[in-house]
Order: sequence, then C-alpha cells, then structure tokens
Amino acid sequence: MKVFDKIIDINSYIQHQQELDKTIGFVPTMGALHIGHISLVERSVAENDLTVVSIFVNPIQFNNQSDLEKYPRNLQRDKEMLENAGVDVVFIPSVEEMYPEPVTTTYDFGSLSTVMEGEFRPGHFNGVAVVVRKLFEIVMPHKAYFGEKDFQQLQIIKTLVRDLTLPVQIEPCPISREDDGLARSSRNARLTPEMREAAPFIYAQLLEARNKASSMTAEELESWMYDSFSKHQLLELEYFKVANGESLQQRRGKIEQNDYGFIAVYAGEIRLIDNIRLF
Ligand code: PAF
Repeated sequence: MKVFDKIIDINSYIQHQQELDKTIGFVPTMGALHIGHISLVERSVAENDLTVVSIFVNPIQFNNQSDLEKYPRNLQRDKEMLENAGVDVVFIPSVEEMYPEPVTTTYDFGSLSTVMEGEFRPGHFNGVAVVVRKLFEIVMPHKAYFGEKDFQQLQIIKTLVRDLTLPVQIEPCPISREDDGLARSSRNARLTPEMREAAPFIYAQLLEARNKASSMTAEELESWMYDSFSKHQLLELEYFKVANGESLQQRRGKIEQNDYGFIAVYAGEIRLIDNIRLF
C-alpha cells in the first residue's frame, strides 16, 4: 500500500495509473476508521482496479472547535485496517498541504444546505464541498463512495457533481449498524459506557417511527418523537424531521413515498445523527 502526503506526488502517481487505463475508486474519510468505512472500501476494491482512501480531518467543516480538537485520531490502526482491506493508495495530507492559504470559495446549495444539519451546523456543508471537490481534483476517481448515514452530505455532493459536471460517479452505501442497531460512526468511540448503552434507543425510535408512518401525519410523527425523547433520562433530541429524500424539504401532512425521518441527538457531549426511510 502506497502512502502519500503531498498533492503533487499522489497526483502524478494517479495520472500514471490513468494512462495505464486503470479505474480508480475513492473513499474519502476523516480517519478513526470502523467497519462502516471498511464496507465502503470493500465495495471500491470489488468495483475498481485501484482503491484510494484519504484520511483528513477537515478543519473547515467543523463549526465547533472542541469537536475538531476531540475528533478521534488513530492513524496507525487506520493504516493497518486499510492495508488488510486491500487498499492500494492512502492519502494523508496535512492541513497546510490542503489549505496553504485561507479558503475563500463558497458554494450555495440553496435550501438543501439550510435545513437540518445545515441549520444546526452553519458552514459545515461549505467545508465539506470545498474539501470533497479538492480531493476529487487530486485523486481523479471514476467512482467515489459515501455512506447514507450522512444522507444530507450525500445529497449535497451529488448536487456538487451534477452542477459542476465533475467526471465522477457517486456511489451511495447503506448505513452500517452495530448489532444493537446504533449507526456506526467514528464519534461512537467517544461515548461514555452509559451513553453507549443508551444510544441504541435512537434507531429503535426510528424503527417505531417507520411503523407509525402510515397512520400519522408528518407533524404527528415529529411530535410523537419529541415526546418520547422528552421522557428519556440521558439522550437529548436536537431535531427529528420528516423530509423528502431528494429535496430534503420538510413534509407537511401525509407522509409520502421516499420520505425519510432524519434525527440528531446529543448523547452527553457527543452528537449522533441517523435516518430511516419511512416509505
Ligand atoms: O463524511 C466524512 O467523513 C467527511 O465529511 C468527508 C466526506 C470525508 C469530507 O471531509
């Protein structure tokens, strides 16, 4: 497995591979890898000649300094996991390498980026779009793999690729879950034992919401969810919204085909997100 930390080096290596007609699959990550990441990597390995993974904790997508500082990092273990999964190239740039000057580019994704995560984490999606576009320019992948846990991020990236005609195919990958239903996330490593035990309540409630979706309006389902979390001793609901899976606009009235329930919850200091297709 080749490890690069300079843009010029990985870029010329990839250019050479492109000249050899190799297809490139790409999995961008922020490290602290878990089985969910590895499932994306395995798809890429199966579908491409060459798999590239980036590990970069992107400072400009964090709107909370303490979240950035405490973001779990475990480079040695990450590299071992990637090597075992059959990855060909890992790109681990420094912040100075990616951003030698302060970033000035801004993207406007309209209402896609002002709801849910966009509302609660201002600037987050601009930071994601900047880094993903930059990584696409560097890695020049044919296919790029993104998990559906970050569903809104996936919609934003699909829009970025479509609006700018970027020559990459976006491959959505299903949410990877622990046996007790908790969506896998690097942030889970920071949960206290008590919060880790409480956290599967989130997915249990999403399943319950899906059961109720045919007999409730979107408003009723949302207030049922707020009600059940208000009785919970440990978990604090930030939002639960019923929204369309394409436009991400909040549903009012009858829940329709391709509507999802989107949720963000605080388990102590740790913010967890999840979603479920309701219909
Ligand atoms: O989903 C993530 O891990 C990050 O948002 C991404 C796509 C690697 C960009 O930093």
